[in-house]
Formats: sequence, C-alpha cells, structure tokens
Amino acid sequence: MPIVSDIAALREARARLPGRVALVPTMGNLHAGHFSLVRAARERADSVAVSIFVNPLQFGPGEDYADYPRTLEDDAAALAEEGVDLVFAPDRRRMYPYGDSATRVTVGEGAEILCGEFRPGHFEGVTTVVAMLLNLVRPDVAVFGEKDYQQLVLIRRMAADLHFPTEIAGAPTVREDDGLAMSSRNQYLSAAERASAPELYAALREAAERLRAGERDYAAIEAAGLARLSAAGFRPDYFTVLSPDLRRPDAAAGEWRVLAAGRLGRARLIDNLAVAAA
Ligand code: PAF
Repeated sequence: MPIVSDIAALREARARLPGRVALVPTMGNLHAGHFSLVRAARERADSVAVSIFVNPLQFGPGEDYADYPRTLEDDAAALAEEGVDLVFAPDRRRMYPYGDSATRVTVGEGAEILCGEFRPGHFEGVTTVVAMLLNLVRPDVAVFGEKDYQQLVLIRRMAADLHFPTEIAGAPTVREDDGLAMSSRNQYLSAAERASAPELYAALREAAERLRAGERDYAAIEAAGLARLSAAGFRPDYFTVLSPDLRRPDAAAGEWRVLAAGRLGRARLIDNLAVAAA
C-alpha cells in the first residue's frame, strides 16, 4: 500500500489505481468509525484511497489543532490491514503552499448555522480542503460519516455547485455499546465525563420518540433536549430539530434531522439522528 505525501507522487499512484476509485478523507487517528467508512467505500468502488491530513484551515483560534492526535504509523498499519490501496498523507506546506492566503471555497447557505455559529470559518476550511482533495484524487465516489451531518450536507452542496463529477456518499454513525458516537475527541473525556457522554445520544433519541409520537412543538422538544444535556454536565451549543436539508421544518413535515452539540470538559461532542414520522 503506497503512502504518498507529495502531489506529483499522488497523481502517479492515483493513475495506477484500477477501476472505480473511492476516497475516504480523514484527519487520521483512525477508529472503528473510520474503518466502517473504508468498508462502505470498498462496497462502492474497486480501489480505495484514504487521505490523512489534519487541516489547519478548519480549526479556529484556541481549538485543538496543535493537540489533535497524530498517529500516522498506526493509522497506516491499520489501513494496510483493511486492504486500502493508497494513502495520501500530505503536510501543511504541500497542501497550502501560499499559507493563509489560500483560495477558499465557501458554501452559499448553511455554513453559518449549527456548528458554523460556534466555530466561525470551520466549514469554509472543510469545504476548501475537500474541494482540493476531490481535485487531487479525482475519485468516482467520496465517503463521509453521517456523524458530521452538517459537514456531509455542505460537502454535497459544494460538490453540486462546483460540478464535481464525484458522488458524495454518507455512511452511518458507528457507536460504542452505550450509544456514544465514535470520535477521536472522545479520548479527551475524563472517566466521569465518559460516563455522562451517552446522554447526548439519549437526548436525541428522546426527541426522536416525541416526533414519532406526533408532537410538533419543535421549540419544546429543543428546550427539553438542552435541559437534559445541561443536567448531564454538558455546556450545550445547540439542540435543534430541522429538515433533512437543514432548514426549519414546518408542522406538516414527515422527516427530520435532530442535531445537537455541546462541550463536556475539554471535548466538544456532536451527534444527530434521522427521524421519520411513524
Ligand atoms: O470529517 C473530517 O475528518 C474532516 O472534516 C475532513 C472531511 C477529513 C476534512 O478535513
């Protein structure tokens, strides 16, 4: 399995990949959630490429860019085990030779709400790097986790708006036995925080049950979710009921996405659930 870090070597290795090519973009520190993306990619393509790049553009001042766990050797060994065909692990200088003055890709709608409100510029950083990766690897399909649902929606919009031929696929969230969505940031949790963390998923499930039971007072459902997170020790950023395309649902809606984010100690956790009327 070639591991390449420079752009010319990537283009060469990419040209040698046979058949339909899938890309799984990651920031490394891989866990079972990422491996499920690799398997979802394998189901959709003949060759699977994985990128590993901790993208500085998507971290705000004071966020965990410097501390973000970098575990390239272990990641590469695990990806070789998974039968991945190519790993692209560039450094910051190769991806952004012009530094902070790099061209940015901004999605016109939806990047300022939810996580975008609490992490200004975050999604511009994500859509910029993903556009670069799609352009470099030219995959037939790229796979992203539904845990980062807003990211998935915005990447779909970006790829459609810029006429990338790549299909953008979502893959289901992988959870621990107690429901906590897998995330590299879970390792920031103390033992006590880890014990409270599944409340995020539990609160989303409670909201889903209320919607399925016919309740349409979205504000009341959101207030209950926020209260449940606060009671569990979170400092919630948001708890929101939206349409699947992240707009305000009306009372006649039959499909929703419930999304929540909050800080628990040092970790900022996010999660979401798809809900359909019973
Ligand atoms: O979801 C992630 O790990 C990142 O946001 C991504 C899509 C790899 C872009 O840096």
